[in-house]
Amino acid sequence: MDTKQKLFLRALNGESLSRPPFWLMRQAGRYLPEYRKIRSQSKNFLEFCYTPDLAVEVTLQPLRRYGFDAAILFSDILVIPDALGQKVEFREGEGPVLEPVRSVADLAVLTVDHVHDHLAPVYETVGRLAKEIPEETALIGFAGAPWTVATYMVEGKGSKDYPIARTWAYRDPEGFGQLIRILVEATSAYLIRQIENGAEIVQLFDTWAGVLSESQFQRWVIEPTAEIVRRIKQVYPEVPVMGFPRGAGILYKDFIEKTCVNGVSLDNGMPVKWAAENLQPLCTVQGNLDNMALIAGGELMEKEIRAILEGFSDGSHIFNLGHGILPETPPENVQRLSEIIKGWGS
Ligand code: CP3
Repeated sequence: MDTKQKLFLRALNGESLSRPPFWLMRQAGRYLPEYRKIRSQSKNFLEFCYTPDLAVEVTLQPLRRYGFDAAILFSDILVIPDALGQKVEFREGEGPVLEPVRSVADLAVLTVDHVHDHLAPVYETVGRLAKEIPEETALIGFAGAPWTVATYMVEGKGSKDYPIARTWAYRDPEGFGQLIRILVEATSAYLIRQIENGAEIVQLFDTWAGVLSESQFQRWVIEPTAEIVRRIKQVYPEVPVMGFPRGAGILYKDFIEKTCVNGVSLDNGMPVKWAAENLQPLCTVQGNLDNMALIAGGELMEKEIRAILEGFSDGSHIFNLGHGILPETPPENVQRLSEIIKGWGS
């Protein structure tokens, strides 16, 4: 086995390691004072994402503090609707606001023709990160998965249960399927271009996969993800792809088998023992500390961390949270987490 390879890539190759590599979803963000300082220089969040100087700097910030085994490109999943021509805004205290698309006629505003031009600054950020991150650190590129991106495009904002998107998908699967096809096209091309510029792994975030019924999960989560994985592997068969069908429950198994991903992120609702027995033999698992435990800190947090390390120690595992780190998280708790993981197995 190639022990010179980055720890993160070894885990994704299926190796079981004495200590797992680790990173945190949303590791660059508002819980860090140095992030808030740079963020305040930019009124518009999308402009911030499209400014390579700033995006490179905030990607590097958490690496300097905690020595994570992977860097994740700083961007957002909603750059794809923006690049397709939909009106997308991030409002202070409100989150994303989009001019909704709710019918086949509305899809006329979208075009894949300018995606690469529009996202050129993101590719530049990836290229610069590939050169600037420490040599033992892996670089993760990412995109939103079609279903989750579609929920924002159709609802026009975040929501708890995505009623308009789910109803459209049942009422007019052909029409809704056209939107998903546009997203498959744009997302595949976007991820392939990130890899071309130096991303070593790509992750697809399907944050709202868990609101779907079994049949709808098959059609709008598994099928489009499988198609994106197929297109990436056609060009880059060796590059690992990770999925995050958050909230999928036992359907994680189907997801792994049918999409052919190399790794999955587990949400914190997933029992470690069940996942170790049923999922870890199929691919590398990543997760799944409750992000609230990281806010709370203390002995219970440490116990949760150790239970996850122990529970996944017989197979390939990447330590992470079960969902993104929250702005309320004390940076010293992340410090403690990193000490526990780096000391594990030694
Ligand atoms: O460090 C990293 O993980 C990389 C950066 C990253 C961001 N968003 C930056 C961001 C990543 C991987 C994302 C993914 C993302 N964005 C997802 C999927 C993962 C998840 O957390 O569920 C989703 C659903 C979004 C959409 C999104 N972006 C929302 C709903 C919001 C508003 C909520 C919030 O936290 O403010 C964002 C904004 C956003 N994306 C911020 C960051 C750091 C905060 C904006 C700010 O700094 O003002």
